[in-house]
Amino acid sequence: MSVTQPQPHARRLEPPDVAPAVERAGQGDERRRHPAGRRSSDRRSYVPSGRTGCRVVDLPRVNDPRGNLTFVESQDTIPFSIERVYYLYDVPGGESRGGHAHRQLEQFVIAAAGSFEVLVNDGAHTERFFLNRSYYGLYIPRMVWREIDEFSSGSVCLVMASHHYDESDYYREYDEFLAASRAGDRAP
Ligand code: TYD
Repeated sequence: MSVTQPQPHARRLEPPDVAPAVERAGQGDERRRHPAGRRSSDRRSYVPSGRTGCRVVDLPRVNDPRGNLTFVESQDTIPFSIERVYYLYDVPGGESRGGHAHRQLEQFVIAAAGSFEVLVNDGAHTERFFLNRSYYGLYIPRMVWREIDEFSSGSVCLVMASHHYDESDYYREYDEFLAASRAGDRAP
């Protein structure tokens, strides 16, 4: 099966009617230093939760002079079992990805290299997250519209997902998603 067919350009979500909360997950962490081989953070520590149900997870770090290591474990670091992993790379400057929501799928997004921004909207609230460290991940529950943009050169967007790919799980029209959300189909 070919997976290279061009997709319609993701519809740009209109600016929110509520002021977006801006999470700058990576800022200021350059100053953190930890002994080699020691975990730098508790795996359950969270950067503040957002109103959309999305949250930035401060992942465990095993710092080492040979190179640092971060890991993700199902049902522990993240609240679902990982059934699929995919990644976005070679994203041309100015491009955006996403532009959809999922009926059931939960996802966990990591800037494995470089940086990008993730705009999320649950039908009532909008937030924008900036990911620029490979030890932060953004948890996105079901029924959240997302758009990913502002990719830096050479960035890699690593995504862990709760289910295999299923086109019928997508809302690709924002109005359709919004109607379902307003009818009460929301992430818990
Ligand atoms: P899509 O989820 O729309 O990409 P993005 O959200 O990153 O913009 O998927 C783009 C295409 O890639 C789509 O036609 C189907 C294919 N695809 C797969 O075959 N398997 C996958 O796991 C994913 C995520 C996409």
